[in-house]
Amino acid sequence: MAKLDIIQFPEPILRETAAPVEQIDEDTLRLLDDMLETMREAPGVGLAAPQIGLSRRIFVMDPSREEEDPTPYFILNPEILERGDELRVYEEGCLSMPGIYAEVSRPACILMRYVNRNGEQREDWFEGHAATIAQHEFDHLNGVMFVDHLSRLKRDVLVRKFRKLRKSDSGEA
Ligand code: NI
Repeated sequence: MAKLDIIQFPEPILRETAAPVEQIDEDTLRLLDDMLETMREAPGVGLAAPQIGLSRRIFVMDPSREEEDPTPYFILNPEILERGDELRVYEEGCLSMPGIYAEVSRPACILMRYVNRNGEQREDWFEGHAATIAQHEFDHLNGVMFVDHLSRLKRDVLVRKFRKLRKSDSGEA
């Protein structure tokens, strides 16, 4: 397995609508493994294909808590079929905007239809932490970043903060 480079905001690919996956071949399986490894090493709880420079409708996530056994999900061509009425607010971050965190409100449970690693179509209800992550990653497939859910003012403040962080990371004044 190989660790992949994670693309950072504001790279244009993060704003594209990703294309569906047509078939699961050996390259796809390797990609899924590499994405999971990259996510774990980052470390993160979810990673979408556009974040590694591939505009495909694929994401991986692991919503398990530290004390629980790992439960990786490999999600291809997802659709959100239903959204619960109740909302959940959670402080989100993103591997494509390291160092930036903000509270985002999203439905607390969703019904997602997707194709798994074995090519089987599944429908799962995701709740709580899993629902938050699944929706954050699903957004990436449509060119949406978590800060887009905030007010314009808050978003602009965070984008400016991120630009500053990046500059200081790259050693510029
Ligand atoms: Ni993200």
